[in-house]
Amino acid sequence: MCGITGYVGYRQVTPVLLETLKKLEYRGYDSAGIAVLHEQALLVRKMKGPLKVLAERLASETIEGSLGIGHTRWATHGEPSDINSHPHTDVAGHIAVVHNGIIENYAKLKEWLQAQGVVFRSDTDTEVIAHLINYYYGKNRKKQENDSGTEDALLHAVLQTLTRLEGSYALGLIAIENNDFPDRLIAVRKDSPLIVGLGKGEHFIASDVPALLGYTREVYFLEDREVAVLYRDHVDLFTEQGEQIHRAPSHIDWDMASAEKGGYAHFMLKEIHEQAKAFTDTLRPRLTREAQGWDITLDEIKLDAGWAAAPRIVITACGTAWHAAMVGKYAFEHFARIPVEVDIASEYRYRNPVFNPQDIFIVISQSGETADTLAAMRLAKQGGARILAITNTVGSTLSREAHLVLYTWAGPEIAVASTKAFTTQLLCLYLLALKIGVLRSKVPDVDRYLGALRDMADKAAQILHKQELIQRFASRQFNKDKVFFIGRQFDYAVSLECALKLKEISYTHSEAFAAGELKHGPIALVDTNTLVVALATQRELFDKIVSNIREVTARGAATWVITWEGETVFNAIADEVFTLPQTEDSLSPLLSIIPAQLFAYYCAVQKGNDPDKPRNLAKSVTVE
Ligand code: G6P
Repeated sequence: MCGITGYVGYRQVTPVLLETLKKLEYRGYDSAGIAVLHEQALLVRKMKGPLKVLAERLASETIEGSLGIGHTRWATHGEPSDINSHPHTDVAGHIAVVHNGIIENYAKLKEWLQAQGVVFRSDTDTEVIAHLINYYYGKNRKKQENDSGTEDALLHAVLQTLTRLEGSYALGLIAIENNDFPDRLIAVRKDSPLIVGLGKGEHFIASDVPALLGYTREVYFLEDREVAVLYRDHVDLFTEQGEQIHRAPSHIDWDMASAEKGGYAHFMLKEIHEQAKAFTDTLRPRLTREAQGWDITLDEIKLDAGWAAAPRIVITACGTAWHAAMVGKYAFEHFARIPVEVDIASEYRYRNPVFNPQDIFIVISQSGETADTLAAMRLAKQGGARILAITNTVGSTLSREAHLVLYTWAGPEIAVASTKAFTTQLLCLYLLALKIGVLRSKVPDVDRYLGALRDMADKAAQILHKQELIQRFASRQFNKDKVFFIGRQFDYAVSLECALKLKEISYTHSEAFAAGELKHGPIALVDTNTLVVALATQRELFDKIVSNIREVTARGAATWVITWEGETVFNAIADEVFTLPQTEDSLSPLLSIIPAQLFAYYCAVQKGNDPDKPRNLAKSVTVE
């Protein structure tokens, strides 16, 4: 996730920018840069690589100035490179912008600006913002000269630009102004966080609290669509319409460690909670409203008829990503009616697989660097397969070597146990399955499913609001010897991930079983020290799950059922029932995993484990 900082005041700005950016490193980044107002010119220094390399470069020159912006970039549009790093400027270099978020309509804006003669230097969505502000600023200045008006040409240009942007953005910008305004920094926020730090004779902006704690604890948390103009001695807040806002600042009393975790006790809990936003970020750029209803736009991978005609889909991955693939199998077969083969990457690479160049070969990896996953992909590529990667990491080896890439836009995941990367992988797989299903004329009622997907962020948030119920349940169950997750169909696929989450961080022996398989072996393990968690979201299979629950309660197991709100059939037979807001049965994994993630998290905490750093595990396994 990109990080933004900015400063106006009395100190030398470069060290302030470097120090505040350093505090945002935990967000993950691939490039860094700053822009400083130096002797009436905007000096921009930016490069791919870690902050310390930028700092070394800056140490070799004298940059004087006390107004500037800084950025750590986590690539979205365009690979990590010096040129794609922020800040971005207009052609003359009079306006410099840093951005966190995604401008969804940037391609259209870019085309429009190019038609006005603007020459672009980077592949980013952000660059359009600098050019647009410059375009309006020029117009406003001309109008001022003609009418001898007194309007604030730069602020007005920013507000005009905002009316043209779709998507999410936190922005910081500085400019050389041809009028009497003293040094100032403009900040805007919509759907991406940004805070304003208040000092004495100095003011700051930052994406997150840790960046500012060394300087101030008085802040404005900018609300969506608010604009802040920061001077040395005061800060003005405006609506997007330019009306001034007055409100009291907030006081931060977090310590540094909790500030980095956004006030959450662990990164894992923070990332579980970030899922609602990750759903929106992953989905929104890909759903477009057309005359006949909503449509899935996967511009980045340009699915053609060849894809729709594929005889088979093969998916490989490791760990959590493999579990996403398992859900994907059910989704592709359900919506697109294409046979799907799912394989663990370390098995695929050694099992002499049969290739068919007509197949769609999907590789899923949060990091894009997992050794076995890359090896499986290379093998399939040699065999002539078309490779589609689903990854969270722009510039990763997987993203570079695959033919096509679909990004999950989950933001950096720091906790070892994957949460938001998994659910956004699911979302990408559902979008693909529905899109291919539509191309194959297999989903006549696609609007129904797209509507349900659009509501998913709200539903995830509703589940997260009930986390205390799960915390209490975990405090009663965390000492069980064994926890078995059972389910049928989509519920079976997701129960694999539920069991992995629990074993990874609580070290409890947990397994997932297809509920119908219980009687073929696993039931021999069930005793009074066993908790059986039944996922029950496939309404037409409720009767079967009821029987499975009876089988295990008869052997003394405690039971927890995860089902839909309004379904009462399990109340009398289970020890505990957790309900999910209703959605389509076939989309249930997007929600049913969330209580299981929370359960794993609270069991780990009860046992005194660090959920962020489980023993023996690594976030990214780049060796075999
Ligand atoms: C490791 C991690 C897992 C992850 C797996 C695959 O085992 O501990 O959380 O699911 O690698 O990682 P990838 O980056 O390829 O999704």
